[in-house]
Order: sequence, then structure tokens, then C-alpha cells
Amino acid sequence: MSARLVVLISGNGSNLQAILDACASGELDASVVSVISNKADAYGLTRAHNAGVEALHFAKLENESRSDYDARLAVCVSAYLPDYVVLAGWMRILSSSFLLSFPSRVVNLHPALPKTFPGVHAIERAYAAYQRGEIKHTGVMVHLVPDEGVDNGPVLAAQIVPIFADDTLESLEARIHGAEHGLLVKTLQEIVTKNNRLS
Ligand code: GAR
Repeated sequence: MSARLVVLISGNGSNLQAILDACASGELDASVVSVISNKADAYGLTRAHNAGVEALHFAKLENESRSDYDARLAVCVSAYLPDYVVLAGWMRILSSSFLLSFPSRVVNLHPALPKTFPGVHAIERAYAAYQRGEIKHTGVMVHLVPDEGVDNGPVLAAQIVPIFADDTLESLEARIHGAEHGLLVKTLQEIVTKNNRLS
């Protein structure tokens, strides 16, 4: 049975697009049942509309705590009965009031290798570290989100991305995003296939 995915985004949504395209082509045996953004102007919402997928801006209420927002978000996401919740450029740390509703079901993508450059601006920081001679390559990873640890959790897949001496930040970003699009789709297909075998 085709897996139901809810995709959480905060911005451009190029990884969401990779998922939507893979669902449409059959490369990924899943369907995106909702796209939710914490930012009203996230371009990913337009991508979802264009693909005929329900898309909504889930706004924070005035004076709402992180935990209350996350609990409300969990109720909203649960209504779509997702098999997996995919964080594709979701730039908010999720607390246990969200995560406890989806144990082993929240999948995050990060543009760096495990245990390196957690948080925002990971690509910029890797590029700067390369310029200082501290690293020779960077990478991308897909992992489960068991707790509030930032870009940390059981690794589902990781891939090295080379950095070349003549790279600009833009050329490195493009190479990393290309790697992300492929690795995210491939990893999601692996977990939905495994889930199908178990059920
Ligand atoms: C991606 O590079 C993703 O790995 C990163 O945000 C970008 C979203 O791009 N996520 C993180 O940095 C999480 N800490 P997109 O909106 O074009 O998919």
C-alpha cells in the first residue's frame, strides 16, 4: 500500500519537489497527503498547490509556547493519518509534544554528515571550514528524529559530497542540494518498502 507522507517545510521546497516528482513518476511508492509550512511565504506551498496537494500555513499564535504550538501541530498532522512525517527544510526544533505522537515516524534531512554542522547555515559553515583547511569534504544525511537533539538521531542514510578547490558557495550548494534530492527519495523508498514488508 502506498505510504502517506506529511511534509513539513519552511522555505523553497526543492526537496519537497523531489518527493512530489518521485511520487508522480512511481519512483517513490507514496503520496504526499499534506504540506505544512510554519512560514506563510514559503515557496514550497506554491509547489504543493501546483501538484494538487493540500498545503497550509500553520501559524504560531500570539504568545504561544513552543510546546503548545507543537502539540497543536501534532493534532493537525495526525488528522492526515501519516505513515511518515518528513522534515524537508523545516527550520524549527520539534519538542516532545510533537515527537511523542509519531515515534520512529519523523524523518529529517540535513545538508551535512552525521555529527557535523548541526543547525542553520550548515553549507556555509562547511564551505568556510574547507577554506580553513579543516575538512576535505562534506555531505548530506537523512535520519530519524527521536528527540529534541538538533539534526541528530539514528542515521538512515548519509552520502559524502566532495568540495573542490574552485568551488564557490553557490556551486557547493547546488551539488549538496542535488545529492539531497536523490538521497531523500531513495531513503524514503527504502523505509516505505521495509514498512510494507512488515505489515
Ligand atoms: C535543505 O538543504 C535541508 O537539508 C535544510 O534546509 C534546506 C531546505 O531546502 N535543512 C536543514 O538545514 C535542517 N537543519 P529546500 O527548501 O529547497 O528543500
